[in-house]
Amino acid sequence: MEIIILPTPDDVARTAADAIEEQVRRGPSVLGLATGSTPLGTYQELIRRHQEDGLSFAAAQAFLLDEYVGLHAAHPQSYHSFIRKEFTESVDFGDGTVHGLDGLAGDPAAEAARYEARIAAAGGVDIQVLGIGTDGHVGFNEPMSSLASRTRIKTLTRQTRQDNARFFAALEDVPDHVLTQGLGTIREARHLLLLAMGEAKAEAVAAAVEGPVAAVCPASALQLHPHVSVLVDEAAASRLAHRGYYQDTFGRKPAWQGL
Ligand code: PGA
Repeated sequence: MEIIILPTPDDVARTAADAIEEQVRRGPSVLGLATGSTPLGTYQELIRRHQEDGLSFAAAQAFLLDEYVGLHAAHPQSYHSFIRKEFTESVDFGDGTVHGLDGLAGDPAAEAARYEARIAAAGGVDIQVLGIGTDGHVGFNEPMSSLASRTRIKTLTRQTRQDNARFFAALEDVPDHVLTQGLGTIREARHLLLLAMGEAKAEAVAAAVEGPVAAVCPASALQLHPHVSVLVDEAAASRLAHRGYYQDTFGRKPAWQGL
């Protein structure tokens, strides 16, 4: 894991956008997109680069990490709607190239299998954007998720439903269930970008990066991946024991190496 501590959330967004831009400019790419507040700055930066610098997503495909069960793709709080509104409708992805899970699927297990097959048929994910929940989840893999899990239905913890209630009129409106890529699925992406900003994420970041690999902190499974960039602002890094070491090594990293 490479832990990169940056002064502000804007620096996190710019650095994540740099890595995604580099991937997209390399050729046809498969992007793994997260929803939630964390990647919004990254998406805004990519939209700006599309509008001002001609960064094109016309040769890219995208796969969402997760979706609420019971919400139609057109529901304003569905992750299909979220990603369209916050990112993809403002750039130039081709029709049908932004894929998500069907929250209304009558057979969630079949839908999960179909999604895994679509990711595989696309050649796998080149770069996967990830946030982290205050309980250590990635995607919607809540604590005790199997470190080898595949796309499947999960029940949200009370803590996650409370965290996400801000997007809904009331806590009771937050669905209980979700479909999410599994930790085993996420770990097959070639490069993982884990983003976290703010003090509220500091404990989860410390457990994920410096704690043991354990299902109680699902993000710790990323320690098993050979190419993870953890981009955090000072506040999200505040509980890391080895901050000085991460800052020193990143400060002396050769510029040609990239993320
Ligand atoms: P957030 O959520 O980006 O809205 O904080 C992160 C997550 O739940 O994975």
